[in-house]
Amino acid sequence: DVGDEAGNRLEAIPGTHRFTEGIAARTLGWSQDYLGPTLRMRRGRTARLTAQNHLDSAITAHWHGLHVPGRQDGGPQSLIAPGQKLEQALDIDQPAGTFWYHSHPHGRTGDQVYRGLAGMLLIEDDDTASGALPSDYGVDDIPLIVQDKAFTRRGALEYDDGGMAAMQGFRGDRIVVNGALDPAVRVPQGLVRFRLLNASNSRVYVFSFDDDRRFHQIASDAGLLPAPVPRKQLQLAPAERAEILVDFSDGAGGRLVSQDVPVQMMGGMMGGGMMGGMMGGGSGPDTRNGVFRVLDIEVDRSRPAAVTTLPRELRGAHLPTYGEPVRRRRFQLNMMMGMGMMRGMFGGRPKLGINGQSYDMGRIDQQLRLGETEIWEITADMMSHPFHVHGTSFQVLSRNGRPVEFGETGMKDVVWVENSTEILVRFDQPASVEAPFMYHCHILEHEDSGMMGQFTVS
Ligand code: C2O
Ligand code: CU
Ligand code: CU
Repeated sequence: DVGDEAGNRLEAIPGTHRFTEGIAARTLGWSQDYLGPTLRMRRGRTARLTAQNHLDSAITAHWHGLHVPGRQDGGPQSLIAPGQKLEQALDIDQPAGTFWYHSHPHGRTGDQVYRGLAGMLLIEDDDTASGALPSDYGVDDIPLIVQDKAFTRRGALEYDDGGMAAMQGFRGDRIVVNGALDPAVRVPQGLVRFRLLNASNSRVYVFSFDDDRRFHQIASDAGLLPAPVPRKQLQLAPAERAEILVDFSDGAGGRLVSQDVPVQMMGGMMGGGMMGGMMGGGSGPDTRNGVFRVLDIEVDRSRPAAVTTLPRELRGAHLPTYGEPVRRRRFQLNMMMGMGMMRGMFGGRPKLGINGQSYDMGRIDQQLRLGETEIWEITADMMSHPFHVHGTSFQVLSRNGRPVEFGETGMKDVVWVENSTEILVRFDQPASVEAPFMYHCHILEHEDSGMMGQFTVS
């Protein structure tokens, strides 16, 4: 719990993490051998944190989804060199929700996040603390950091961010939840809240339960939805979050699964050919008939849950108040950019970009004005991408030309872009030339290959 007191340290350290019996791999973590502690912050308070780097390469501490100024955002400019530390006092003033933090040095984000430099970050406020929703951390309010990994035969982590892996995104064949292979959880009998975070480098999940039960989504990336949305399936692209309520009052457990979603190509030129052939779904110990086992859930019938009825409305939902847009900006996510893609095809690090330019730390791509509402139109030239914006939350207006209901998506900071997506966005935090905000594809191998841009807000 990160409150007003000093002394909340995140120490980036190397470790050896036991993913399951017989598999212990060299990893990285924040103050532990893999991943980091869940940081719990309260709206209206200041969270004081110190990030210290005990590794031999530079890191950053990025607070994904937090509305903080550029100089506190932990983007690629805010490097913490080996042996150095960075103290932050983050003024938390945004609705409650499920966020995360991770390292973000340019060109190495994929490698460091894959090895473990990530963690969950929860914001609470008076509404969510009222007890209407399951909120007993680890009991009926359960964080699920979902990742995919590949292990060598000797149990070491396997990772590649060049060549085809950089083009399609690196994907492993094993599913790890909170750092555990073959995870299982015991829950009380009643309503249980799961906070799902897709912290994978590039894998997209379509979650469901193996008995096809209905559940309710209550929050997306940046806070509660106005009302619970009934679902049987839920898609999460990299960096997206969702909170769901699942009813276990009948005492029967279940299994959370995910479809094995293939890399999604646009129809057309390269879809089924050269790259398509190499992009088939995974197969491995965790997949059966194209379905991954994610989490086994057992119900403890001797323990009644604190919440047994689904709320009709969600108090504390953050309704959009961004007003009329004054400007439209266009962003095209480019796989095809000169010879950039060819480098990937031949095994090197490809050069990907946005609007025809690969990321350059020394170039400011856009200059925005504080408090001005804009529409951003994001398109893609070849495959689908999760587009993320720092420093704010946005509302999704349309996808592939069709309007999107706010009540279905809520406030977000990552959006899945197929052909085109429009978002309504406003920045109320400043970002300078020295520490600009980023927008990028959250397939980390794409980000590291240059599918990123940066902007100031003043
Ligand atoms: Cu989750 Cu630019 O980051
Ligand atoms: Cu971010
Ligand atoms: Cu991408």
